[in-house]
Amino acid sequence: MSLAAVRLTHLEVAHRQGGRLETVVHDINLTINTGECFGLVGPSGCGKSSLLWVLAGLNAHWRGGMSLLGHQIAPGHPFTGPLRREVQMVFQDPYSSLHPKHKLLRTLAEPLKLLKEADITDKIIDGFRQVGLDSAMIDRYPHQLSGGQRQRVAIVRALLLRPKLLLLDEPTSALDMSVQAEILNLLNDLKARSDLTLVLVSHDRDVIDHMCDRAAVMDQGRIQPNVG
Ligand SMILES: Nc1ncnc2c1ncn2[C@@H]1O[C@H](COP(=O)(O)OP(=O)(O)OP(=O)(O)O)[C@@H](O)[C@H]1O
Ligand SMILES: [Mg+2]
Repeated sequence: MSLAAVRLTHLEVAHRQGGRLETVVHDINLTINTGECFGLVGPSGCGKSSLLWVLAGLNAHWRGGMSLLGHQIAPGHPFTGPLRREVQMVFQDPYSSLHPKHKLLRTLAEPLKLLKEADITDKIIDGFRQVGLDSAMIDRYPHQLSGGQRQRVAIVRALLLRPKLLLLDEPTSALDMSVQAEILNLLNDLKARSDLTLVLVSHDRDVIDHMCDRAAVMDQGRIQPNVG
């Protein structure tokens, strides 16, 4: 029997638009098992990123039930303790997780220092190599990278924290086929070696088919029936 990594009941997500809250995700009921890769597809604006942001603890405007990695979550309470490391997100816009005025080494090292990890620079260099980036790039600023290179750094940033739940929002959209395959294989390896659970948003049906055990189609803020 596998424990659920994500359990959502009647989840609603809203955004502040103008002076009021607008609900953009409606009545999500979903269980994602530990070790599963769950795909999320659907047209632009249907609410995929909005759902992921709530799973990452980054939007307090939600209602319903949510439990992540066995922890019951309440709206408006930032993740504390191990959950802060265990749930990581790779954003659709990789700038979101990279401080614009800090070199990549500093940004990636910061959370590892807080965790009192050893050999931090070596680990970061190793991570860069794993995603096909030259290790000299650790001394660059985010704007000195291409979009695809930034995406890869964002993936390294998340993986260095050894998450148990990894939320990926179009993580390979700016990558060419060969680099994309390399990254997806890396994620698949991690999933096979650990009990890593993945939630993967992609507009690319091939990526979803290659990676995911199950996938759901979202439309206008709702998950369509017959998840399979
Ligand atoms: N920060 C925000 N503030 C206000 N409204 C938002 C915000 N983010 C998203 N929205 C709105 O919420 C709805 C869902 O957007 P969301 O970004 O979740 O869609 P998506 O499925 O990720 O689309 P895409 O495939 O284009 O990334 C849209 O109507 C969007 O305009
Ligand atoms: Mg999005």
